[in-house]
Amino acid sequence: MKRTFVYSLSLVVAAVLVVGCAEQFAGIKPMRGTDVAAEDKADAPKAYVGGRPGTTKNIARTFSTQPPLIPHEIEKFGDVNLEENSCMDCHAAANYQKKNAPKIGDSHFIDPVTGKKLAESSAARWNCMQCHVPQVDAPPLVENTFVGNVRN
Ligand code: HEC
Ligand code: HEC
Repeated sequence: MKRTFVYSLSLVVAAVLVVGCAEQFAGIKPMRGTDVAAEDKADAPKAYVGGRPGTTKNIARTFSTQPPLIPHEIEKFGDVNLEENSCMDCHAAANYQKKNAPKIGDSHFIDPVTGKKLAESSAARWNCMQCHVPQVDAPPLVENTFVGNVRN
């Protein structure tokens, strides 16, 4: 008897939840369409813009602490992983002059925990694309009214 009661109660709760969710998501149109098997309508991935490093111009920064955007293409470089970092081949303090590339920022030589100056770039700055991003020629997905605080 008790068990039947628990079962019926859970059925009622489940029904309330289903109705509640259906109401909450009513009117939302997913990009793929409502049918899970529908064809994915997302655009094909676009190639990054900008030519070979050394042929592009730096992109103006729009706020004072912005990690500068990557103006050149990055597809042809190797990965950034535990053993290698192709970005550092050109941007490391030891390489930038002979590669004629901008040196990694001063902030990269500050230990993020102690705030002390380091002789080498901090390991916290190893994963470059966590902060610096290559560019794609694509229209913004949503309207953007951001106004930066840097006058270039
Ligand atoms: C072959 C050398 C080379 C490699 C490899 C390279 N860069 Fe560059 N990078 C440059 C040069 C040179 C510039 C200056 C713009 C130009 O001349 O095209 C630059 C510009 C930049 C800038 C803009 C700096 C600013 O002040 O606006 C960023 C950020 C950057 N690179 C990040 C990266 C990252 C991240 C990688 C790895 C995915 C990378 N670069 C790989 C040579 C290189
Ligand atoms: C945690 C975020 C972060 C990571 C990770 C990071 N950077 Fe930066 N980077 C910044 C910021 C913020 C600036 C601007 C402040 C400065 O110049 O230090 C900057 C500046 C730069 C500049 C321009 C320096 C100048 O004097 O104009 C270059 C080039 C650069 N980074 C390259 C790299 C490369 C290459 C890597 C990977 C090895 C990397 N960064 C990793 C945040 C980051």
